[in-house]
Amino acid sequence: MREHWSKLGFILASIGSAIGLGNIWRFPYIVGENGGGAFLIAYFTAIIIFGFPLMIMEFAIGEKFKGSVVTSLKKIHPKIKYIGYFAVFVCLGILSYYLVITGWTLAYSVFSIFTQIDFTVFTNTLYPIAMFFITLLIITFIVRTGIKKGIERVCDVLLPTLFILVILLVVKALTLPNAIEGIRFYLTPNISSLSNPSMWLMAIAQALFSLSLGTGILITYGSYLKKTNIPKSSIIVIISDTLIAVLAGFIIFPIVFSFGINPATGPQLAFITLPKIFSFMAFGNFFQTIFFLLLFIGALTSAISMMEVGTTTLIDEFRLNRKKATLIVLGIIFIAGLPSALSYSGFSFTVFGKTFLDMMDHLFGDILLPVCALVITTGIMWFIKPKELLNEINKNSKIKIPGFIVPVLKYFIPALLLIIVLMELV
Ligand code: ALA
Repeated sequence: MREHWSKLGFILASIGSAIGLGNIWRFPYIVGENGGGAFLIAYFTAIIIFGFPLMIMEFAIGEKFKGSVVTSLKKIHPKIKYIGYFAVFVCLGILSYYLVITGWTLAYSVFSIFTQIDFTVFTNTLYPIAMFFITLLIITFIVRTGIKKGIERVCDVLLPTLFILVILLVVKALTLPNAIEGIRFYLTPNISSLSNPSMWLMAIAQALFSLSLGTGILITYGSYLKKTNIPKSSIIVIISDTLIAVLAGFIIFPIVFSFGINPATGPQLAFITLPKIFSFMAFGNFFQTIFFLLLFIGALTSAISMMEVGTTTLIDEFRLNRKKATLIVLGIIFIAGLPSALSYSGFSFTVFGKTFLDMMDHLFGDILLPVCALVITTGIMWFIKPKELLNEINKNSKIKIPGFIVPVLKYFIPALLLIIVLMELV
């Protein structure tokens, strides 16, 4: 018998999947690099016209076909099951390095209690590998325990905790001297950058990553649904995810401006720049611990959802039990993630001049993720009967999603994704 979420459990797990490093770490630095408030306008537009349609489509496909991404696609048309396998490959590829960074956040949240951390010193120890392995064991244990007793229970506790930590940090950040400068930078739109197409594409790519779209995660979560109002649940997930991303900006920018640092410091913002700033702050260790704990919780609940994609596929396609399935995924992720875990160490694995982890993030996060979203959306929309999809989306909803969502999903969104892919390649 297939397990089912409770109503609240499903929403919390989906919010947990969405909120992650993408919101708290990536979002603020992308805003920083793209001139502040204008990016917010582009991002809000992207989640409405791009994120929402894709999310209701994925949940509906999962709920209707009650199977992993491979199984569901196969039921739509046998030919597109290979797209499903590709999605699993991309999802686990992302998980392999995502979990390394999750391990860093765990290490940082523990070590911050006692000491100041230097990124270079840290990555030259064995801790990154140990922490990668520990986080992998944690998510394996949770996923193996099952949908309701494992994932749902953990998210029921972690998500409210995450919201409390965010509020605590926002209050601290806003009461720092000069916080207002950061807010001004964050919220003042630089109107001229709205005419920059690459900023819009960046906003769409960020929505894709942050809302966990395009690799079958939400199809997988949707497959454990029973009678849910899909449009309403999707709106709740999107609002919560965006709220946390926006609030992360209210943490990062006041802190950065209050210590006179350039907000466009890129990916190193969280692990190199912020710890330096925290060390000058009253109760810095405490707030640094809270900050990395927040990152850890966000990342962990996202990693769980990625692991579930592989696990559900092995269960539904290969008739394995959950125990065996999680063990196999653990093995794959351990092997695939090892070079990423080693890549900032003395071994310093580099590929084309990039560290292995950065290469993986570029290949999987920037290129294969939009490619996968493109083929999955096109594959589904090509073969599914529009009426069938609309019925599933609107089945339990009072407010009906109109039929023009179909051409949006079939032509408009793939066109946007194609442009993103081409841009990344060029
Ligand atoms: N949606 C997850 C994140 O934003 C992957 O980190």
